[in-house]
Amino acid sequence: MFNILNSLEKEYNFQLYLLFENSFEVPSFISKENGEFIRKVALKQGFKGKRLEELRVNIDENGKIQTLLFLGFGKIEDFTQNIYREILFKILSTIEGKVAIAALNKELILPEVAGEILYNVNYNFDYFKEKKSDKRIELDFIIESCSTALVEEINTLGVATDIARDLVNFPANIINPNSLAEKVKDFGKEYEFEVEVLDEEELKKLNMNLLVEVGKASATKSKLIIMRYMKGESDEKIALIGKGLTYDTGGLCIKPADSMFEMKSDMAGAGTVVAVMCALSKLKLRKNVVALIPACENAISGNAYRPSDIVKSMNGKTVEIINTDAEGRLALADAITYAVRNEKATEIVDVATLTGAIMVALGTFATGVFSNNERNYKKLEKACMDTGEKIWRMPLFEEYKVQISSDIADLKNTGGRMGGAGTAAKFLEEFVEEIPWMHLDIAGTAFDSSIKWIKKGATGVMVKGLYNYLKM
Ligand code: BES
Ligand code: MG
Ligand code: ZN
Repeated sequence: MFNILNSLEKEYNFQLYLLFENSFEVPSFISKENGEFIRKVALKQGFKGKRLEELRVNIDENGKIQTLLFLGFGKIEDFTQNIYREILFKILSTIEGKVAIAALNKELILPEVAGEILYNVNYNFDYFKEKKSDKRIELDFIIESCSTALVEEINTLGVATDIARDLVNFPANIINPNSLAEKVKDFGKEYEFEVEVLDEEELKKLNMNLLVEVGKASATKSKLIIMRYMKGESDEKIALIGKGLTYDTGGLCIKPADSMFEMKSDMAGAGTVVAVMCALSKLKLRKNVVALIPACENAISGNAYRPSDIVKSMNGKTVEIINTDAEGRLALADAITYAVRNEKATEIVDVATLTGAIMVALGTFATGVFSNNERNYKKLEKACMDTGEKIWRMPLFEEYKVQISSDIADLKNTGGRMGGAGTAAKFLEEFVEEIPWMHLDIAGTAFDSSIKWIKKGATGVMVKGLYNYLKM
């Protein structure tokens, strides 16, 4: 739990004081004697407040032993919010209990960022462990004036990020298209948004054959999970689409064991959009948003779809299946058509663990973004600046279209190894029918990322970035 207070109200296990190099001072409310003592210790240690430098002092204040921790952030001119994230994550990972933070320099008063990091540190996926982690921090940020709306937003986004992380961390024997739909219905009740679920029968009636085909080898068939939150005043209607592959074996083009292991996370896009819906509904954004999850499992059986099959999409284009492991773009393509034609979306944003190639291109700390709309991309870039979520724009070159053209159908589902993230995005673009669209490839960032202030496992990446985007 994160809170903002205007004075040290309780007894704390730790009081953290954040400062830039050479701005060390003793907080004014410390008694004169203790102040003298702290100054002496700082002098003896040569404490300057260089980046990551720490000064720990125990004092007896009004008969209570207090642990003060002065924490250096280095030179102000080198400072960035991501340095703040990194340092806070490091220090909070080493302590526990009730913690107060105060900043000795005004540039270090960043409660949103501190709250974000608190949730990153407190999150543990210990649902299946007999012994749960009891290392938890309760954090109070001490600032002169505080706003309850800001506190609520920080905590809601923290909880929503944890919802996304849990959905991803739960393995595929727990989360399948059915149980995912049930969980989303529960979130819809709790957070007050509408949920509708289409089953395989209904998908067939709608000609969502790509989505049906990908999921047909599984014991739990494909579903389209629809969430609606319509509180906007304009005609604008944004469709958020999250890839919901509850497991991706690769299908008949089976993945090697090492690469298959991580594939419970192939519904991270779905987790992201569910979490964003929870947050925007709880925080009552004035927007019209419909979120869609094409949910399915890419399994293997005698009934599996095969390389060389030709399938007609909802939009009418036929697709030659080259590789059954390029399943995400198939499931997403029909969801995009559904958003365009049945929901009449005025804008589409899809989030997907789509390609291994995006990690080769960008690493595992940045999300690749493809868009046919300059303005929306710039807006997303701004939205993500505040959340420390690195994004990078990728091209939708015409040449990719050549790579995914088939001799015997309208499209192929893969375009070869070269430019793999681009050809996947280009495939999706074939279905957006000129509507402003962004595709976020989170394959590198959603799970076991190298983002320095997030633990291993599911990251909950882009929940906050997309929330900010919708808020703008
Ligand atoms: N779900 C994977 C992409 C992925 C890889 C996500 C690693 C997270 C971590 C996707 O369905 C896939 O298998 N893509 C293939 C496409 C290829 C067959 C054209 C890939 O990237 O290898
Ligand atoms: Mg695959
Ligand atoms: Zn996949």
